[in-house]
Amino acid sequence: MNVGIIGSGTMGSGIAQVAATAGCKVKLYDSNKNALDKAKASLEKIMNRLIEKGRIDANEKARIQNNISYVDSLKALADANLTIEAIVENLDIKKNVFSELESYVADDCIIASNTSSLSIASIAASLQKPERCVGIHFFNPAPLMKLVEVIPAIQTSEAVLQKSIDTISDWKKVVAVAKDTPGFIVNRVARPFYGESLRIYEEGIADFATIDHSLKSLGGFRMGPFELMDFIGNDVNYTVTETVFTAFYYDPRYKPAFTQKRFSEAGYLGRKSGKGYYDYSEGATKPNP
Ligand code: NAI
Repeated sequence: MNVGIIGSGTMGSGIAQVAATAGCKVKLYDSNKNALDKAKASLEKIMNRLIEKGRIDANEKARIQNNISYVDSLKALADANLTIEAIVENLDIKKNVFSELESYVADDCIIASNTSSLSIASIAASLQKPERCVGIHFFNPAPLMKLVEVIPAIQTSEAVLQKSIDTISDWKKVVAVAKDTPGFIVNRVARPFYGESLRIYEEGIADFATIDHSLKSLGGFRMGPFELMDFIGNDVNYTVTETVFTAFYYDPRYKPAFTQKRFSEAGYLGRKSGKGYYDYSEGATKPNP
């Protein structure tokens, strides 16, 4: 199967690795050349780490890497049977990319979005054949997280839904079919996890590290909410909360927090910028005073 991935950032590069490991021929496209170089370098590092851990050998590394090519034009995805978009979480930008992409690909190519929170119906509406559009939502990091939400829009055909479920299952992932509602399942459940933690911090009840520690040691979570927001990226996480809040007609349950807005505006995006709720600049995780 030929797979086109649009956006080679955190999610796109991870999804490319998953598809290539499953034996697909992947073309990874980004409008930013630096992002493509970064994705290539990052895959090299990941492959070497997997070799060190004894999970793969040099042949497997070569097989996976040979399955991925890095392309700098959307048109290069013309021979794809499935495309998965993982660009910036902005409806207008996604719609423009989808409508251009459709002019290049074959009529039976599935056009999917990895959006965390936008309506699949509205993305599908940018296509001449909206029935070929579906949400295929991976979690971060895509190669490690088992769950993938598959979200049919009201326009999505039964055949496209079934083919998407089958493909993602072949990629050794566990599929949950979710309705096309804001945040789908996991991102909706996660909103109060982050939101209430931010409120506890804003009310002066506890600091980031104490809240994280409590949820990990008492709640059994692998990561605390602030560690997780730093991992996801405060910009991405804030945008998702804002989208879910707006899409649920300003239901106060999903109200975004000023703390996260300010961190995002300041460029304290988390791990990817070296500083978020914690400071990662010297490699060690420590509270950011
Ligand atoms: P990112 O910021 O790491 O990567 C986005 C990439 O898209 C960048 O390399 C950028 O150069 C590229 N891009 C932006 N506009 C473009 C365009 N018009 N054409 C081509 N490339 C373009 O973002 P990330 O975190 O990978 O998120 C991507 C999508 O996946 C978003 O819709 C996000 O909501 C969703 N998502 C993110 C998760 C996360 O934990 N970060 C988890 C699940 C979904």
